[in-house]
Amino acid sequence: MGIVEPVLSPVEGLNPSCLSSLNWNELKQMVRDCTACKLRAGCTQTVFGVGDENADWLFVGEGPGADEDLQGEPFVGQAGKLLDSMLAAIKLKRGDNVYIANIVKCRPPGNRTPEADEIATCLPYLQQQIALIKPRLIVALGKTAATVLLGRDATLGSLRGTVHDYNGTPHLVTYHPAYLLRSPAEKAKAWQDLCFAVQRMS
Ligand code: URA
Repeated sequence: MGIVEPVLSPVEGLNPSCLSSLNWNELKQMVRDCTACKLRAGCTQTVFGVGDENADWLFVGEGPGADEDLQGEPFVGQAGKLLDSMLAAIKLKRGDNVYIANIVKCRPPGNRTPEADEIATCLPYLQQQIALIKPRLIVALGKTAATVLLGRDATLGSLRGTVHDYNGTPHLVTYHPAYLLRSPAEKAKAWQDLCFAVQRMS
């Protein structure tokens, strides 16, 4: 009999090597049933991700907000409307060669930034989503997604305009749509980032 790896490792939460064999349905089921960190107790439902499962483009946000928590889909509130406009500006559409996911799958209370242990616990799900999608480009939306994918702290400004590497997949960063709603003057920089991304893809 083979060795059965535990799905939960005591130190790191979810065991990433265990997820690497999961297909989409198994992964979705596992996220749906997940209680591996304290966020699940305070949210309505998990928010897995949405879009084309063979997309070239993967956009990664931070975590579900109130609207996403209720509807079970990432970026469906005001920030999501702006994200859809950003996609349209570069002739992309949610679900069409685009996948949208978050670093954490459960809404942090009061929309606070997810904590390090919550991110570490949830990250293997995103890693397996990336492994299944095999995107050509990951666009990190905001500092949390950018620094988690990068594996180190940095300011968003210092990360813009450079192609970074996430386990062999190129990734770029831009401002989070929620930040752009609060600071519309920064939209011009986000537009630059999107043009950079299109250039990288072509
Ligand atoms: N903000 C995020 O980072 N993700 C969402 O899904 C919604 C808002």
